[in-house]
Amino acid sequence: MADYREAYGQSLRDPEAFWRQAAQAIEWDVEPTRILDDSTAPLYRWFPDARLNTCVNAVDRHVAAGHGSRVAIAYDSPVTGNAEQWTYAELLDVTSRFAGVLRDLGVQAGDRVVIYMPMIPQTVAAMLACARIGAVHSVVFGGFAPAELSARIDDATPRVIVTASCGIEPTRTVEYKPLVDAAIELSEHKPESVVVYQRPQVEAPMGERDVDWETAFAKADPAEPVSVAATDPLYILYTSGTTGKPKGIVRDNGGHAVAMAWSFANVYGMHPGDVWWSASDVGWVVGHSYIVYAPLISGATTVLYEGKPVGTPDAGAFWRVIEQYGVQAVFTAPTAIRAIKKEDPEGALLENYDVSSLHSFFFAGERLDPDTYEWAGGHLGVPIIDNWWQTETGWPIAANLRGLEPMPIKPGSPSVPVPGYDIQILDHDHQPVAVGSEGDIAIKLPLPPGTLPTLWGDDDRYIASYLSDHPGYYTSGDGGFIDEDGYVYVMGRTDDVINVAGHRLSTGSMEAVVASHPDVAECAVIGVHDDLKGQIPRAFVVLKAGSDIDADDLQAQVVAMVREEIGPVAALKEAVVVPALPKTRSGKILRRTMRGIAAGRDEPVPSTIEDPAVLDALRDILQG
Ligand code: COA
Ligand code: AMP
Repeated sequence: MADYREAYGQSLRDPEAFWRQAAQAIEWDVEPTRILDDSTAPLYRWFPDARLNTCVNAVDRHVAAGHGSRVAIAYDSPVTGNAEQWTYAELLDVTSRFAGVLRDLGVQAGDRVVIYMPMIPQTVAAMLACARIGAVHSVVFGGFAPAELSARIDDATPRVIVTASCGIEPTRTVEYKPLVDAAIELSEHKPESVVVYQRPQVEAPMGERDVDWETAFAKADPAEPVSVAATDPLYILYTSGTTGKPKGIVRDNGGHAVAMAWSFANVYGMHPGDVWWSASDVGWVVGHSYIVYAPLISGATTVLYEGKPVGTPDAGAFWRVIEQYGVQAVFTAPTAIRAIKKEDPEGALLENYDVSSLHSFFFAGERLDPDTYEWAGGHLGVPIIDNWWQTETGWPIAANLRGLEPMPIKPGSPSVPVPGYDIQILDHDHQPVAVGSEGDIAIKLPLPPGTLPTLWGDDDRYIASYLSDHPGYYTSGDGGFIDEDGYVYVMGRTDDVINVAGHRLSTGSMEAVVASHPDVAECAVIGVHDDLKGQIPRAFVVLKAGSDIDADDLQAQVVAMVREEIGPVAALKEAVVVPALPKTRSGKILRRTMRGIAAGRDEPVPSTIEDPAVLDALRDILQG
């Protein structure tokens, strides 16, 4: 691991030299002379005196270098029967004209734009158009309900919302515009305009503040890129925390561009002109970093796939896409392969396709379970690479660095700390644990470029949520250990965040909804194992004294409420009535113990428990 060790060592010993070198991959308007500003530690800023435009780096510069005819986006949409290839020149045209639309609507550098869109190329153009004029985009995943969208509107206070008339799910067409209207109705902040991209499947009703994409686009002149400070925000992406209120993860322009270029080459081993497919959604961080920014900044072709891995038309959809576009590497969540494996356990459909272009298959978003690892490796015959990271970091914290120096794969581990990340396993006294012992996975500050500088408008919450558990460190929220070879093992969240089909959700926000049911005295929502989705939420409900509601009715109502308030993506399907919840003598619900029992672990009875008998009843339900 000579190259890796050298790079990793230098990144920690002399981070400024390391990232100064990496910054050469980016086209700057003003080159960085200072690399790291630590004057406001624990808040750090990278490239504080540099200026650039992220859209120029992702699009214009490739066209200027003569690659305008290279495919930037290969859009493939089995759910609509559509496929389009957008070259870099076409992407530049649409992006700069849509930037003109936004500018004509009064959007200026620093203004926020919420994007609530399906997986279509116009969504990528809208993101890049914001970057072009220095506006800050906040993409909200389409599976979230109006109340969640509204919470994000009130936090980000956008001048404009960009949406489409619909998204397409296997079982239904989701009309986005009524959801946006309902969200604005709920919000205190009212955006000035809503730009609507009308898709042929659904015609969205238009109101006074609504602007038709095509009409505005036809009239708009292209907007020139605006030079922004490297430390200016590029986007806000909301993610789930322990409480119901989502956290607005901020991404800056300069550090992000450098991290995208560096990671695409060094972690994923991809080069300009390569064909890359990240089968995720632009609403999640994987979509931001590895559908949009990293491949485009690096001048690669990114496949934009609108659909599911199975059912469109069958479980061979992934293999068809790999063959059709000559995809060299795929990045998805293990749940996607579990879905394929469920439909086609022997991988028989693979035989209908030539997937020989593929050199690697990357997984992230949740633990890579051994069955998925074996199945994918066995059937695809390429290295199966796990990588661990989070919305907050924006790019891998631990990985097998395929571009820098491929290293042996150990199933169960995303491999080693990525250069820039000083990973330490700490105990409750903030001390490093012995090799092989479990503890909190923490990262010594400063975090590398591209990671969150703060939470949107809330430095205090950033410090309280991430930097206070272990002073001098960023606390990841995951627990795990490092083995004698330096390989990191991620064992799962230590808080109340769960991962359902690779989607990060807060059990706290589900509890708030369930608790608002008139018959519910108290409740706990925990993540339990699911063969397909990895985890699913299950609610445990104690009824109010005197309530005689039927358990099935209660479940149906609670499930409908969560779907209505949070969205279908919450995937809560079960609410179990229990006589009592296990609690400490001071009244705190022992969620951790519940999670342990649900996972089939032989949980010790906590010494603080109020009534140990409650656990027995719960064990029967949870393990049954
Ligand atoms: N807009 C509207 N609704 C959406 C949505 C969107 N963008 N995305 C999901 N939903 C809905 C689904 O239709 C489903 O609704 P339903 O309860 O009426 O069926 C619900 O939210 C739950 O979605 P999901 O958890 O994705 O379940 P699924 O059964 O539809 O699909 C998988 C399961 C595994 C096939 C799917 O999650 C998948 O392809 N995952 C790939 C990995 C991935 O994208 N990971 C993201 C981070 S890397
Ligand atoms: P998100 O912010 O949606 O990317 O979710 C981040 C969380 O997903 C992490 O904190 C982990 O709990 C989990 N996660 C992501 N990737 C992995 C991985 N490779 N192995 C284990 N857990 C992962």
